[in-house]
Amino acid sequence: MKQPFFTAATLMAGLMFGQTAMAGNCAVDVEDPFDLDEAGIIALYDCMKDKMVESYTKGDNEVAKEYRNWTVSSTRPAVAGPHGNRLLQTFANDIAAEQYLKFAEEGVEMPAGSVLAKESIKISSKKKIGQVGPLFIMTKLEEGGAPDTGDWLYSAVQPNGKPMKFKQSFCHDCHIGWESQDALAYPMEEVRVSN
Ligand code: HEC
Repeated sequence: MKQPFFTAATLMAGLMFGQTAMAGNCAVDVEDPFDLDEAGIIALYDCMKDKMVESYTKGDNEVAKEYRNWTVSSTRPAVAGPHGNRLLQTFANDIAAEQYLKFAEEGVEMPAGSVLAKESIKISSKKKIGQVGPLFIMTKLEEGGAPDTGDWLYSAVQPNGKPMKFKQSFCHDCHIGWESQDALAYPMEEVRVSN
């Protein structure tokens, strides 16, 4: 699936941010990510999108190399609150995409081999720029592969390409709040891709 559409206004903004990008940074005119409007988010993402892949692929993470070819689940990134008030955008691999993009609320059981990769952008309120955040990953193992976490394996790639260290329970204790959705929280409703 393709990336979101662009209006003339966002294209213009994109060009402006593009110039900033050449200087290395993607500037924003807000301190709080919740204050970014849709055009601002799209322009920021446009400025950051190559930088993100460059960051995540600095190591040897396989998902980092592939996820941009997967199905994107939202029309643009959005801030949900959890995941450090970052702007989030999730991609689903071929095994996961059909079920994930239904955003079903009951009886969800993702097939083994499903992978969800969620890129993140942090707004530095001090510097008023976008910064690459971790790539968060959920991988569905074979039945019994991780009994304590509903067979989900949680992982993340830091912006330097290295794996992030944390306990599985750190992620799962929150994600289990969506138990009937197989621990999936889904993107914010207003940005979900319709299918
Ligand atoms: C405090 C709650 C919380 C914690 C802790 C948390 N998440 Fe999430 N996670 C969410 C919410 C809410 C969403 C959906 C928000 C969005 O994507 O806009 C989400 C979405 C995701 C997604 C996209 C799949 C989905 O659920 O729709 C992945 C992948 C993910 N999280 C991985 C992780 C990993 C890895 C960790 C641990 C390092 C983690 N999460 C910790 C709340 C949490």
